[in-house]
Amino acid sequence: MTVVTSIEDLRVLAKRRVPRMFYDYVDSGSWSESTYRANSADFASIKFNQRVAVNLENRSLRGTMVGQEVAMPVALAPTGLSGMQYADGEILAARAAERFGVPYTLSTVSICSIEDVAAHVQQPFWFQLYIMKNRGFVEKLVARAEAARCSALVLTLDLQVQGQRHKDLKNGLTAPPKLTARNLLDMCTRLPWSMGMLATKRRAFGNIVGHVSGVETMTSFASWVSEQFDLAMTWDDVRWIRRLWKGKLILKGIMAPEDARFAVDAGADAIVVSNHGGRQLDGAPSSIEALPAIVSAVGGSVEVHMDGGIRCGQDVVKALALGAKGVYVGRAYNYGLGAFGEEGVLKALQILSREIDLTMAFCGLTDIRKVDCNILSEKSKRDIYGPDAVSNPPDITDLDRASVESLRTPLQRLGPS
Ligand code: FNR
Repeated sequence: MTVVTSIEDLRVLAKRRVPRMFYDYVDSGSWSESTYRANSADFASIKFNQRVAVNLENRSLRGTMVGQEVAMPVALAPTGLSGMQYADGEILAARAAERFGVPYTLSTVSICSIEDVAAHVQQPFWFQLYIMKNRGFVEKLVARAEAARCSALVLTLDLQVQGQRHKDLKNGLTAPPKLTARNLLDMCTRLPWSMGMLATKRRAFGNIVGHVSGVETMTSFASWVSEQFDLAMTWDDVRWIRRLWKGKLILKGIMAPEDARFAVDAGADAIVVSNHGGRQLDGAPSSIEALPAIVSAVGGSVEVHMDGGIRCGQDVVKALALGAKGVYVGRAYNYGLGAFGEEGVLKALQILSREIDLTMAFCGLTDIRKVDCNILSEKSKRDIYGPDAVSNPPDITDLDRASVESLRTPLQRLGPS
């Protein structure tokens, strides 16, 4: 029996339990996977400033994300098909998040529906939305999220076109999936996984199948979805969603400072610096590389969150040091889910929390809200912020409303109407 001490242990166990087609869906990036790899590798190149002989009693990881209290500033990212990592996966992940005290984000392309997840948790969760061509359906999804008491809407903007993932194509994880002899054999021989799948009724896209006329089966779903990516989507549509949704709006997939300013102008409460976990534009910089310029571009007017490549608590602390108010993890919890269901997601959160806590302590801090770029080594600060950073580190935590006001004028001029 493996003693699980790291997210990597959970990955290895998930690989053993989950059929290859679905394991590879999680553990892959687009094309050469260079951005997928850079997401994690770039974290590794950032170094801390170790401090000693500081009173480390009474440490706290508590904070807020979009005004919501969190046990630590780590949310579960929206991930499609989590119900294929483990039977009823989205419900299990949402429950684990609730038990730990962090937000869970349900994907549009989940297996369990919004209503189904809502029926199994007490606390509000977040819902992730894609803008699809069928605007009537989008409007209904927003209303369903509101009726289910979702406390934030995460609008993902980076999937108008889809990055090609070689493994998914080769494994037949296409729409509709190719149930080849190899896939079927692989599923049947993963006995605990297939028993779970046989025992549940949740095996289709719960938010979509049955909610769009003519989409009742996996095959009709496939042809509907392939026509639904909206190539014509613009910031006007983001503003439309802003008018529809009265709660907190988080815009996900921002990688350019210009787009961050457009997001502020469109009324976002928070933005997520994200390259979709390296699954879209291969060759884009890592999210952690993109983060500082975006934090500086929005000047404190909205919360900046980030995701991509986080596999340990040290990564979380580095993202906070560079100005993120919170982070999301995708694969880290999906490995836990694939390995052990709800308990595996909880385990992933416990591992991250312990690593965050100890890392913060080694840097001489007891309150996570005090983390800033001064916990990084002089060299890392210089590499990231330039030669003046050491004597005059940028103030990235203060809210700077004035600079946002100064942003608005050129934006109103330049932004799409
Ligand atoms: C995703 N991601 C994603 N994002 C989104 O907005 N809607 C979605 O349905 C999905 N689906 C999805 C499936 C899988 C298997 C993965 C790994 C990712 C992207 C996700 O929200 C997040 O941006 C990344 O997962 C962050 O990178 P890490 O933490 O996985 O490295």
